[in-house]
Amino acid sequence: MTDDIKKGLAGVIADVTAISKVNPETNSLLYRGYPVQELAATQPFEAVAHLLWNGELPDADQLADLQKRERELRPLDERTVALLELIPVEAHPMDVVRTAVSQLGTFDPTLHRPGGWTDPVLDQGRALYLFAQLPTIIAAVQRRRRGLEPIAPRDDLDYSENFLWMTFGELPSAAAVDVFRISMVLYAEHSFNASTFTARVIASTTSDLYSAVVGAIGALKGPLHGGANEAVMHIFDEIGSADRVVPWLDEALAAKRKIMGFGHRVYKRGDSRVPTMKAALDRLIAEYGRTDLAELYDTLEHEFVTRKGIYPNLDYPSGPAYSLLGFETEIFTPLFIAARVTGWTAHVMEQAASNALIRPLSAYDGVDERHVPGYVPDT
Ligand code: ACO
Repeated sequence: MTDDIKKGLAGVIADVTAISKVNPETNSLLYRGYPVQELAATQPFEAVAHLLWNGELPDADQLADLQKRERELRPLDERTVALLELIPVEAHPMDVVRTAVSQLGTFDPTLHRPGGWTDPVLDQGRALYLFAQLPTIIAAVQRRRRGLEPIAPRDDLDYSENFLWMTFGELPSAAAVDVFRISMVLYAEHSFNASTFTARVIASTTSDLYSAVVGAIGALKGPLHGGANEAVMHIFDEIGSADRVVPWLDEALAAKRKIMGFGHRVYKRGDSRVPTMKAALDRLIAEYGRTDLAELYDTLEHEFVTRKGIYPNLDYPSGPAYSLLGFETEIFTPLFIAARVTGWTAHVMEQAASNALIRPLSAYDGVDERHVPGYVPDT
């Protein structure tokens, strides 16, 4: 066996990207050069999508144009509505959304013939289409799980307001809408994480953008990646209250359980996005008067960091924030899809613009060559 193997590709620099820069030394994350905290403080999510896709923040006309097109693309095709009705209501929302995105790819006439599946202009349109459709799909899935009819999108609301309107049929406070917008900005992009790398592998075969997003959703579903925001809430439910943290953690660590929402492959001294999301969560906790949740959150963080020296990642504050906003736990990771589709599609386009098939090598560690009994070679 060779010493060159990097299990999990840990530490491997697989390619160059101009989309984002993760710097664990300075604990910073830049989208196209801008610190994510500055974007979260100032930009509508539509502007961040434009930035990721085009490299620059939009001017007022560009933003207005993008918002107009995004609003036009929100309503679901009747075939998507029919598909959502066909899927078992108990199915995990990640599987439902993955299936719906796969179907959206079949509506695209430019994909009906082989060849030409990557095209820079068409891919921009496809990315915007998915960006606009995903909130409508996810809101419909959330409502169906609660036995409620879907709510049509409103073209007088921006992305974040409309998402919450379609899900709940009412708008929370402006401050709560802003927490949701911030979460979308923070989740949008994070270099070569597992789902983005999956999307790039698929794009590298010159397959199409929808296929890349479907694959990325599959990768995001796992609790070691995006599924952790859902898993955090299950842990909170399991623990129940702050006074139960210590015995719960004793038992969990003795059983060698992973504590979801903590740890990161790249950041070892804290996730650059956590302070911004934690501040947003604190605003929701204050608004909804949930000091019990704050105590549970802080106690688990303090105990785990003290014992293991492993810090929270973005999923730790975002899970409880989504719960306070009223989302069901199983919808948290689909919300991550809605945000990360911007980063995934930017990476698909970047991969296509400078493509090399992604095809690593493997070292073989199986049985030596042998022969099928009874096989007689032709002479
Ligand atoms: N709980 C308990 N122990 C942990 C955790 C955790 N959350 N994270 C790391 N460790 C321990 C491991 O058990 C391992 O211990 P060991 O050396 O004694 O075996 C050591 O720290 C190194 O952990 P690895 O999993 O090998 O490190 P890796 O870089 O692969 O881990 C990962 C990154 C997968 C995210 C890990 O920290 C984890 O599983 N966290 C929980 C899941 C999670 O929150 N994922 C979200 C990622 S961020 C995102 O997607 C937005």
